Amino acid sequence: MIIKDSFSKFTNISKLSGCIAFFTNEKSEITHLKKYLSSSEHKNLSTLLKNKNKKKGFLNFDLSPKQKVILISLKKNQKPNEIEKSGAKLTDFLKGEGIEAIYIISDTISVNVKSDAIYEFLHGMRLKSYSFDRYKSKRELKTLKVNITSSKKFNKKIYDKFKAIEFGVNYTKDLVSEPGNVLHPDEYAKRLTQLKKIGLKVSVYNEKQLKKMGCNALVGVGQGSIRGSYLVTLEWKGKKTNSKPLAFVGKGVCFDTGGISLKPARFMEDMTYDMAGSAVVVGLMKNLALRKSKVNAVGVVGLVENMPGGNAQRPGDIVKSYSGKTIEVLNTDAEGRLVLADAITFTEKKFRPNLIVDLATLTGAIVVALGSEYAGLFSNNDNLSKQIHEAGEKVDEKAWRLPLHSNYDKLMNSKNADMQNINYVGGAGSTTAAQFLQRFILNKTPWAHLDIAGMAFSKYAGALNSSGATGYGVRLLNKFIEDNYE
Ligand code: BES
Ligand code: ZN
Ligand code: ZN
Repeated sequence: MIIKDSFSKFTNISKLSGCIAFFTNEKSEITHLKKYLSSSEHKNLSTLLKNKNKKKGFLNFDLSPKQKVILISLKKNQKPNEIEKSGAKLTDFLKGEGIEAIYIISDTISVNVKSDAIYEFLHGMRLKSYSFDRYKSKRELKTLKVNITSSKKFNKKIYDKFKAIEFGVNYTKDLVSEPGNVLHPDEYAKRLTQLKKIGLKVSVYNEKQLKKMGCNALVGVGQGSIRGSYLVTLEWKGKKTNSKPLAFVGKGVCFDTGGISLKPARFMEDMTYDMAGSAVVVGLMKNLALRKSKVNAVGVVGLVENMPGGNAQRPGDIVKSYSGKTIEVLNTDAEGRLVLADAITFTEKKFRPNLIVDLATLTGAIVVALGSEYAGLFSNNDNLSKQIHEAGEKVDEKAWRLPLHSNYDKLMNSKNADMQNINYVGGAGSTTAAQFLQRFILNKTPWAHLDIAGMAFSKYAGALNSSGATGYGVRLLNKFIEDNYE
């Protein structure tokens, strides 16, 4: 569904026909609507209300043959995230009813929350309206016209900020949803160069350059594929000074077959979203550029396809990473950490960032531990960890910290190289993966790792998402930046 919104000056309700939405308090009281309705309409509505269950937060009536009224109840001082969810519910309701246009009388929102909350409400409506139907011959190109009437001046600044977030989130969802035959590394890298148009500085390192640089851990993962392997950097300079940037690094495995350590057939198709970490980084950078965020930030993504083949990496191969450390690849399916190893060291060395946050659909073990409620959060820095946790709670993209400890290192030490890429003893699969990544932070840069394997994709719809790609992480990191670095 495509939402077309417009803002207009408040006009007399009687002039409107179709669906009209008012906000009420949580008891669905309508005294404040006397101002908008004729006394007979108001009376009529009161009578209709008596027979309704008011606990649903959402009521609708046929006021007259030409006017349908929706009452949206909001609790007192409802938090922004709850207001967004209420908007999302409205989108679902309108979709279900086949309603194609609605007037929202936004002045009434101030019965319980601040009047600017209308932008949060609309944000929720629009986030929920996303669908990925590019490959359906019969596309449902339904549009929903949302007209917001208000006596207040249109607040372009807030409106544009939310729009930028939506563009970022939707771009992430588009990338994650694309199948592996379309969004392979060559195509992905090409698409990213188009982001120059919105003011990002984009640099692409291809396989030949990566080999020369010594990024053998990353290149090794992609060597079984007919597609290239890439490292792409996206820079946003929102500050006038050249202060150190915030760095975001993403795993971009466009398809993960497991390689020679081949995955079972069932659900292998899910591995098309194994590039979600990179897509979050890209969506975040797009959002920062669109809303002209006042930070310096850099996004770095490692793009590869993990395939079996005559030239594929073998279990037992030893590669020398960009850091100089050697890795024995005991399982070619533990490839994400190989890609990130080089991407992380490269980021630290090249950009000398203030901090590094990496995102990856890294381990099945994190889904066992946390399901699809929390991402796994690992960090070498308590303050950074706290900032991410708190931002997550605010936007309902939650992250739970799990431990790192040097005692886990022995599980990853190798007889033949500096380390091995899996833990053969078993247990703590997500922690050992994070512990592996930590070895590639060479200069004590504050670093956090988000394992989003359980969060990036959902077969079920969430409060702000339709089923499919969730875009998890874009709103979280946007909030993290907004609250702590702008
Ligand atoms: N891409 C997978 C992890 C994954 C699993 C993502 C489920 C999304 C949903 C990753 O590359 C992988 O295969 N990890 C292995 C590591 C193991 C071989 C040590 C895993 O988790 O089984
Ligand atoms: Zn894998
Ligand atoms: Zn993977």
